[in-house]
Formats: sequence, C-alpha cells, structure tokens
Amino acid sequence: MTKPLEGIKIIDFTHVQAGPACTQLLAWFGADVIKVERPGSGDVTRNQLRDIPDADALYFTMLNSNKKSLTLDTKKPEGKEVLEKLIRESDVLVENFGPGALDRMGFSWERLNELNPKMIVASVKGFSDGHHYDDLKVYENVAQCAGGAASTTGFWDGPPTISAAALGDSNTGMHLAIGILTALLGRDKTGKGQKVAVSMQDSVLNLCRVKLRDQQRLERVGYLEEYPQYPHGEFSDVVPRGGNAGGGGQPGWVLKCKGWETDPNAYIYFTIQGHAWEPICKALGKPEWIDDPSYKTAEARQPHIFDIFKTIEAWLADKTKFEAVDILRKFDIPCAPVLTMKELANDPSLRASGTIVEVPHKKRGSYLTVGSPIKFSDMKPEVTASPLLGEHTDEVLLGLGYSRQDIFNLREIKAV
Ligand code: COA
Repeated sequence: MTKPLEGIKIIDFTHVQAGPACTQLLAWFGADVIKVERPGSGDVTRNQLRDIPDADALYFTMLNSNKKSLTLDTKKPEGKEVLEKLIRESDVLVENFGPGALDRMGFSWERLNELNPKMIVASVKGFSDGHHYDDLKVYENVAQCAGGAASTTGFWDGPPTISAAALGDSNTGMHLAIGILTALLGRDKTGKGQKVAVSMQDSVLNLCRVKLRDQQRLERVGYLEEYPQYPHGEFSDVVPRGGNAGGGGQPGWVLKCKGWETDPNAYIYFTIQGHAWEPICKALGKPEWIDDPSYKTAEARQPHIFDIFKTIEAWLADKTKFEAVDILRKFDIPCAPVLTMKELANDPSLRASGTIVEVPHKKRGSYLTVGSPIKFSDMKPEVTASPLLGEHTDEVLLGLGYSRQDIFNLREIKAV
C-alpha cells in the first residue's frame, strides 16, 4: 500500500524525545527518515536506562522506529560534505539541538536555505526565538514548569507537580509534525521551503489553554466555581491547583473502588455531566435526588459536591473499577477505570487497534511500543524496529554516490 508521505526524505538530526517523536510519526506515515548520529555513541537515549546490557534501551527503540541510522561526524569537513549532499536531496531537516548548535556546526537557516531552497527546516527549542530565556537548554519537566502545567497540576496543599505525560517532549514533537506537514503543503503552492519552529514552552501552554481561560475568569469574578476551593475555600489572584477536578464545566473526581486499601489504582474517574444527573441518580439508587432542589442543578450541587462524591464512593465500595464502569456505561455516564501501565500493555483492544504493538528487534528480541494513535481508513501504519547505530550508513552513502572505497576512507578518519 502506498503511504501518503512516501517519497518525502527527512534528515532526522534529532535526539532524546521531542524531535524523535516527531520524525517517528512521519516515518510511520511513509517518510524516508534518516537519523544522523554521532559515530560511536549516537543518540544518548540508546544508552539511557538500559534494561539489557549492550542492546539499545527501550527509551531509544520506542522513539525511533521505522527510521534509518546514518553515523556522521558533522563537525569534520568530510562529514559536513556528506551532510551537504544529503541536504541537497532532502525535503525536510528536523533538529532539536541546544540553542545555536546548528549555527555553530555551520548550518544556519540561511546556509541551509542556500543549499536547498525547497527544504523545510524544522526545529524544537525550549523557548521561542527572541524569548528572554531563548539561550536555555530545556528538558521535559523544565518545559512543564515554564509552560504553566506545573503550577496548575497537583493538590492545593502540595507543591507544583509534574505530569507523567510528556507534555514538553512528545507533545512538542506532535506540534512540530503539524508544522512540517503544513510547510510541505505550502511548498506545493509556492515551491519554497521555510523554517518551522516550535518551542516546548509554547506547546505546553497550548495544552494549558483552559488554565489561561481560568486566570481571566478569576481576575473578573474572583472565584472559579468548578474548583474544589469553591465555595468553602479561598482564592488568591492566580489559578490554583485543582487536584483531580476536571478542567471543563462538568465536575469530576477520582473515586475509590473495591480494593483501594491495597491496590493504589483501584479507582475510577467519575464525571457528573449536567444533563446526566437523572441517570446518575438512577444508577446510584438515589431517585429522590433527581428533583431535590439541593441536588437538581449543577449550581445547587457544587457546595456539597464532595458529599456527593462520598455517596458515590459508598456505592462503589463493593464494586471493582471494572464492574463499576460496566454498570455506569449503561447509564451513559462518562467514566473510566484508572488503568495501570500493566493493564494497558495487556489490553486486547489496544493490541487489536495497533495502538500498542510488539516489534521484533535484532538485538533485543521483541519489545512493546506505541503504534500510531492516528487511525486512517486507507492506511494502517506499520511499526518496524528502530535501527542499530549506523545500520544504514553504507546504504545511504552509496545512494549519495559514494563508492565502497570512499566509505572505507570515511570510516578510517571516523567521519562516519
Ligand atoms: N556530529 C558531531 N557533532 C554533533 C553531532 C554529530 N552527528 N550531533 C550533535 N553534535 C554536537 C552538536 O553540534 C553540539 O555541539 P556544540 O554544543 O559543541 O555546538 C552537541 O553535539 C549537542 O549539543 P546539545 O544539543 O546542546 O546537547 P546537550 O546534551 O548538551 O543538551 C538538550 C541536550 C536536549 C538539553 C538540548 O539539545 C536542548 O535544549 N534541545 C532543545 C530542546 C529539546 O529538544 N529538549 C529535549 C527534549 S527531549
């Protein structure tokens, strides 16, 4: 089956997570992604948090599937020459080096645009160009703090909290992928490449937009009625941490189910959707609440929302999280069990949909990884193993017109 991005050649000058997540997505959809790595060491994640000695770490394999690996020392003149050849015939270059690293290597945007005016140059940085922190190197948790996620996540009586979801890394990579695809469509119209830049701070903030909404509401009215602090607690002049409250108009909370005393994940998330109040009362066996003026409207419920959650927990006490959801789904109540990584890894639905896939790897044996979360009617993205370091060096160099002798010579001087 022809994949939509087949024929698009991408120089993948990325490392760690933000950049690799972007190029992996494009590789799933058919792009020819050539990962350029430093000879001898490669992407630092090949070695980080290894679970099998001498085999690429899962950190690497789960972010670099469907790619080729070319080792190249781009600080050596011979390495630069190879890179220039590759640039002349590629559609996109993606990088997430620290600020200024590409310029120092001799490949500024101006130089890249001169070498290949049709090429799209896509970058991830911690902060956007011109920002007063644009010289900072940034990792995931730093971005979560800088983008407003940490100050608004966690409980009000605890410190700012980091989310386990890679809001700074993979999320930024997804934003960059959208930027690259947009620039490719733009190039079809203009014939010109362009620079696409995404910052981790901006990408986190983009996902925290409801908190920016809340900041403005707070400034106008002095309180936020869907937060646990309302109506009994105090509000300051900044959006507080709301614990497990939802970010939207429906109150919700994580509620204990049977076995919570020993299982830290025996919980469900329960949402009290306004128009589902009647079915909720029926599901809980509380028909008297349906027309009771102290319960009938969201506004009436809010002052004693935690008493309502306690009543629901009493109903949940003899039900596992799965049994509870099986009952509540019949009443159309938005809810879900709190699932562990172990449960997700073994979930037959996720395996069937290709969201979690098992991939054979030359050195590791097979490993689990995520597949495309985006589903298409005409294409099922297939996940193949991440490349070994330099696995495709010969193939790529031969394709660029180098002879076997040239490749031998480049190896002798450790340029590849
Ligand atoms: N051949 C030769 N040199 C290479 C090379 C290659 N194939 N690939 C990279 N390098 C060099 C670069 O030229 C640079 O050298 P220089 O600093 O002497 O100019 C160096 O390796 C890489 O530097 P840097 O990217 O700053 O690495 P780091 O390990 O110090 O920092 C990050 C890592 C992630 C903090 C930093 O890259 C960063 O802030 N990136 C932008 C934001 C980002 O993506 N964060 C991570 C998200 S997971």
